[in-house]
Amino acid sequence: MLEVLILAAGEGKRMNSARPKVLQPVGGQPMLAHLIETTRSLKPSAIRIVVGAGADQVQAAFAGQDLDWVIQHQRLGTGHAAATALPAIHPEARVLILPGDMPLVGAQTLRQVVDADADLTLLSFIAADPTGYGRILRDGEQVIAIREQHDASPDEQSIDECNSGVMCANRSRLADWLGRVDADNAQGEYYLTDCVALAIVDGRRVQCVVSADADEVLGANDRHQLATLEATWQTRARHRLLDAGVTLPDPPSVQIRGQVDCGRDVVIDCGVILIGEVRLGDGVSIGAHCVLENCDLAAGTRVEPHCVLTGVRTTGACSIGPFARLRPGTELAREVKIGNFVEVKKATFAAGAKASHLSYIGDASVGAGANLGAGTITCNYDGVNKHRTEIGAGAFVGSNSALVAPVEIGEQATIGAGSVISRNAPAGELTVARGRQRTISGWRRPEPNKPSGQD
Ligand code: UD1
Ligand code: CA
Repeated sequence: MLEVLILAAGEGKRMNSARPKVLQPVGGQPMLAHLIETTRSLKPSAIRIVVGAGADQVQAAFAGQDLDWVIQHQRLGTGHAAATALPAIHPEARVLILPGDMPLVGAQTLRQVVDADADLTLLSFIAADPTGYGRILRDGEQVIAIREQHDASPDEQSIDECNSGVMCANRSRLADWLGRVDADNAQGEYYLTDCVALAIVDGRRVQCVVSADADEVLGANDRHQLATLEATWQTRARHRLLDAGVTLPDPPSVQIRGQVDCGRDVVIDCGVILIGEVRLGDGVSIGAHCVLENCDLAAGTRVEPHCVLTGVRTTGACSIGPFARLRPGTELAREVKIGNFVEVKKATFAAGAKASHLSYIGDASVGAGANLGAGTITCNYDGVNKHRTEIGAGAFVGSNSALVAPVEIGEQATIGAGSVISRNAPAGELTVARGRQRTISGWRRPEPNKPSGQD
């Protein structure tokens, strides 16, 4: 029986943030969310998380998930954190302990640690810069202790094999060792890492899995390390897109902050940011410097440069932008065209409908083939309530028309340019609602005033 124990009670002082460290995002998700997702794949009987600083915030971020929370009221070190959780852990359980600030670790690596045939297993890595990490002390091949940075002699500080913070042992043995750990060290903390030396004293088998990929076990104590983790996560996410058949003319400029699923032959141009859940069908193309959040775009959809799309769904190949802003509830069918400087919110456009320039279409439905001229505005808000505009199939709305909702434009209706439409416009007819043009003949412009003092 396996139980996962994640230590996440630290304040993360070095982040200099109001947010608890484990909620700092990597790839658009809290660090802790990555770890929970990865450890779930090991099918543990429980995932317990030790929280302290900002416990309410952390618990709220994962509300409704199947997790067990342990509160560590005083943060006296990683050994104390693990000891605090022990009473809740099943007596027969094998316990996999992880620090909450290592979001990139892979399930396969953790599997290796869990499956190792030893009384205590830890996961180490070779660091390019070991500063700050606990160092692995060996006698020949055998690991004999972990020495924390603050307690390490200059010789020990030159060791580049570091403790990842991942450890695995049976609960009964952990209870024994943790009961004997003291705080007699440079930081005055109870170190979980001292279990290693205690296990050696007891003659137990201590095994160390050396991670093949140092990137996956990196932790984040400060914003510099967080930025490094982010860069690694981004590189991996882009590789997954390239593998799926996506063209990225300038991969490092594309940012993924969530989960992106792409069909084949998708093109994502430079400077694009994808947030939340984004699905792009076969052949979709996203122009330079677009931001897409929670969008589902059907095969063949083209988004021209500099568009911002949030909560948009297309159900067929259509054309968007450049410079369009599409807000939640926008749904576009095949061959729809949304052109430059058009804003759309909670509106559906049926097949072939067009708003090619300079419009605001909100709380509306636009029928198939309808054409909204430049400057068409749905006046959807009366200062208190929002109202709907229904535009029938084949309607033609002349430029610079204001449609004062609630209002209906019938099928095949034509609206004269510059109209303010505040009553329903009948199907098939021309409706004009604007001042009539007239010419006043013989009218003269005023003469300029004469400068004073000259008469
Ligand atoms: C720890 C390890 C170090 C290892 C490094 C890897 C110890 C003593 N040191 O050092 O060997 O190389 O991780 O990143 O274990 N936490 C609690 N309660 C506490 C203290 C910490 O829950 O009282 C949590 C923190 O929230 C964090 C994790 O434990 O998620 C590790 O603590 P941190 O302070 O980051 O330890 P490091 O100094 O990085
Ligand atoms: Ca750490």
